[in-house]
Amino acid sequence: MNLTVIGTGYVGLVSGTCFAEMGNNVTCIDVDKNKIDNLDQGIIPIYEPGLEAMVKRNVSNKTLSFSTKLSENLDKCDIAFIAVGTPMGDDGSADLKYVLQVAKEIGENMTTPLVVVDKSTVPVGTADKVKATIEKELEKRNVSIEFHVVSNPEFLKEGDAINDFMKPDRVVVGSDNEEASKKMTNLYTPFFRSTSNRLITMDVRSAEMTKYVANAMLATKISFMNEIANICELVGADVNKVRIGIGSDSRIGYSFIYPGSGYGGSCFPKDVKALKKTAQENGYNAQLIGAVEDVNDKQKLVIANKILSKFGNDLKGKKIAVWGLAFKPETDDMREAPAIYIIKKLVEHGAEVHAYDPKAMDEAQHFYLKDVPNVTYYNSKYETLKDADAMVLLTEWKEFRSPDFEELKSQMKNSIIFDGRNQYNEELLISKGFEYFQIGKS
Ligand SMILES: NC(=O)c1ccc[n+]([C@@H]2O[C@H](COP(=O)([O-])OP(=O)(O)OC[C@H]3O[C@@H](n4cnc5c(N)ncnc54)[C@H](O)[C@@H]3O)[C@@H](O)[C@H]2O)c1
Repeated sequence: MNLTVIGTGYVGLVSGTCFAEMGNNVTCIDVDKNKIDNLDQGIIPIYEPGLEAMVKRNVSNKTLSFSTKLSENLDKCDIAFIAVGTPMGDDGSADLKYVLQVAKEIGENMTTPLVVVDKSTVPVGTADKVKATIEKELEKRNVSIEFHVVSNPEFLKEGDAINDFMKPDRVVVGSDNEEASKKMTNLYTPFFRSTSNRLITMDVRSAEMTKYVANAMLATKISFMNEIANICELVGADVNKVRIGIGSDSRIGYSFIYPGSGYGGSCFPKDVKALKKTAQENGYNAQLIGAVEDVNDKQKLVIANKILSKFGNDLKGKKIAVWGLAFKPETDDMREAPAIYIIKKLVEHGAEVHAYDPKAMDEAQHFYLKDVPNVTYYNSKYETLKDADAMVLLTEWKEFRSPDFEELKSQMKNSIIFDGRNQYNEELLISKGFEYFQIGKS
């Protein structure tokens, strides 16, 4: 099939590349000329395991190409995917300006029948808006061309996006048209060759809602466990043991019940907010979803507050080594990362921060922490430790899992670790003479 994927970010680039890998002819479009120029030269704008090799292979096979011009890439297109950003608007709702801009351009330029797919995460009712926008442009041009708008929300995880896309747990397709559903089924069937068929079809509105509900459910599990961690700390229970105790119940399960420094990233924070807003717009006060967000906002600062309780409010002259900046391992994405909030708070209180992350240092230096003074970046985790008063672990990258604790002790001024991801063995650290602070353990 001939596919056009509009928006070449995490979702668009991964989807487009994986569709090409399955033998489709894919053109990925972006308004960011710099990004497209780089992609043309084989420079991948994001870090995602396995992506670079797959992009290069498909470019050389001529199944994948890049362009800034949507107008030149609709003529032979069977399916056009809208995969642009849907950032949080000022009032918490999803800002649809990029999605509707693309819809307008599609309406202005399409010449043959088309299936238009909303792959971006968009609130219920967006497909109707996309349809109306395209219709309006066709009317202006005084032409009648058949098109159908389908919802196909994306569930990939940054850091494991290629695996998720190539072997999906499920693909949700919301469509009110049989022909469009058939095209989508044909497109996705090859992805289920080695597994059972996991394509779930439904109406458009239910598909739009499914994406928000999935993210809100996962965010709820995280906030629930963080709240439990805070209670455990007050009553003298160990949340790490409680976690294992409840996870063994198959109705609960182990995933997404790790206590930590709160969720971040480009999706959960904005999607939870947008779902709350959608409920509100429809006259419903989504109390639980609001609480998930409130708990998370507070949780991001729990580890900073522990540091302040240990050293006092004045951190002048204190050096804090920070391991991990990305919102989770295997990505350079720092959107809404707890590290941003924690580092800002430490610096506000006078601390000097020595930071290292395997992939997210450029993002931090040039964007998210650009204006934050007193942060120095190092090329390795051990370099951050020299004369440090404490080490703070914020992202559970594999390279942080089993560090050489003797090296830590020899470099640091104080043998103190604040663990925002509860990944170390407390007994081991205490036996080595460390003071060890974690989430949910007094
Ligand atoms: N990042 C994830 O893990 C993830 C997972 C599932 C769903 N989503 C959803 O997918 C959507 C895209 O997310 P992302 O993380 O890939 O975003 P992103 O910000 O990484 O990329 C969006 C891209 O769209 C481009 N763009 C904007 N307007 C355009 C236009 N008019 N024409 C062409 N290109 C345009 C931007 O230049 C940018 O490169 C969002 O709705 C997001 O919520 C993201």
